[in-house]
Amino acid sequence: MANIGCIGICTGGGDAPGLNAVIRAAVKSAILKYKWKVIGIPDGFDGLIWPEKSRELTLKDVSGILPRGGTILGTTNRGDPFHYKTIENGKEIVRDISDEVIANSHKLGIDAVITIGGDGSQKIALELFEKGLKVVGVPKTIDNDLCATDITFGFDTALHTATDAIDKIHTTAESHHRVMVIEVMGRDAGWIALEAGIAGGAHVILIPEIPFSLQRICDYVAEREGYGKRFTIVVVAEGIKLPSELRQLARGGSVGNLIGDGIALTAHKEVRVSVLGHIQRGGSPSPFDRILGTRFGVAAVDLIAQGGFGKMVCLRNTRIESVNIADAVGQLRTVDPQGELVRMARAIGICFGD
Ligand code: F6P
Repeated sequence: MANIGCIGICTGGGDAPGLNAVIRAAVKSAILKYKWKVIGIPDGFDGLIWPEKSRELTLKDVSGILPRGGTILGTTNRGDPFHYKTIENGKEIVRDISDEVIANSHKLGIDAVITIGGDGSQKIALELFEKGLKVVGVPKTIDNDLCATDITFGFDTALHTATDAIDKIHTTAESHHRVMVIEVMGRDAGWIALEAGIAGGAHVILIPEIPFSLQRICDYVAEREGYGKRFTIVVVAEGIKLPSELRQLARGGSVGNLIGDGIALTAHKEVRVSVLGHIQRGGSPSPFDRILGTRFGVAAVDLIAQGGFGKMVCLRNTRIESVNIADAVGQLRTVDPQGELVRMARAIGICFGD
């Protein structure tokens, strides 16, 4: 058993539904099971630059937060203490303030820190661990792209939100005989597009992992017209790799709009585009994400008690386990173009534009 009296918790990177479930579970189990004090660090590691902004989290502070989206601690996806950016005399200065951050955590009496975050936040956590800070990671992201865990919390809620949007767009697409393009998040991984596309009955799904051509999409729209289907739902992942014919037209806007314009011009169809954006990150977490977040929060506290520093909790084959953060970061889990989900989608006629 590690000698612990006080732990800190911080949330880093883009928010994801379920963060509050992790915080609540960690606070409850730290206090009730281990009698530790818990300090909430605001806005990722930025909170340790100004330690006076950190505050104790009591059972009262986490009461009622389970169904709330976002994070009661605040977050940032720009706060890297190893490359901390400030503007001095009108110039951007980048400094390494990691020593200060570690010293401030000691000043606050923190023995170990739970860092809840995606790949970027876990990389920072690993560097801090290598400099002596005792950290335990919890994987988070709606993108579901961390290789060390079968699933991250936040993904299931985002999937529900995107599927619900596709369902709603379906009826208006059919009524107006239009091509409807829906752009979803996911960064460089196509999980949200693939799974929401399948769940929402999309006809075309474009993901970063499968190269596509505009002509193939337009031919597919024409094939559907040929058998009386006068509308088409196209789900586009934000991270798709544009084919050369579209790259020339790209002006830095959304890829969904680009695909929509391309189809309108080539297939001569009426097209409408919806970019779902940050609604996928918001809202109340699904029951799955609340339960997974709670399991992760409790497991992270147990890992600290066992002295499992430099590790991250994860889900493998329905069991909560842990991995070295060093083995968990830097390698993204993307969609396998030959995998069962893609093969199943192809078997029911879904077009990937290839
Ligand atoms: O990683 C989560 C995510 O929502 C991605 O899907 C998306 O590309 C990105 O964050 C958006 O980040 P921001 O909130 O900075 O616009």
